[in-house]
Amino acid sequence: MEKEPDIEQLVAAAAAARNNAHTPYSRFKVGAALLLADGSIRDGCNIENASYGATVCAERVAILKARSEDPEMQIQAIAVVTQSATPSPPCALCLQVMAEFCSPDTPIILANTTGKRLRYRFDELLPHPFTQSLL
Ligand code: THU
Repeated sequence: MEKEPDIEQLVAAAAAARNNAHTPYSRFKVGAALLLADGSIRDGCNIENASYGATVCAERVAILKARSEDPEMQIQAIAVVTQSATPSPPCALCLQVMAEFCSPDTPIILANTTGKRLRYRFDELLPHPFTQSLL
């Protein structure tokens, strides 16, 4: 049986990454952390842009950073921290990028800065992903 991921450690990493967010436009800071199969934790924060459209979400920053540094990476769990009263889910673009690297049962932990936690399986957030198997 796979070891249960250390959720508190992952949420703490996402919260720390959130502090680096570049959010002069929305002021909505997001941090994301990935637990990889090798036990390492990789993170990212949202990076906004004056064009607005070139903004990149924390989840995609974390995944693209990690994948570009480690072609073998396997995601075991993801934590996202926001300031929302109800911990906010990843946007649809981020879910699509997650679909490339997550399994249906990958735990996705949504947390906020006041300590609320919601836990989902990836397939609860994106039940019908567009994947390689459809090409
Ligand atoms: N944002 C994320 O970082 N992740 C999401 O899944 C949703 C939205 C960011 C983008 C933008 O910088 C700010 O939150 C407001 O939309």
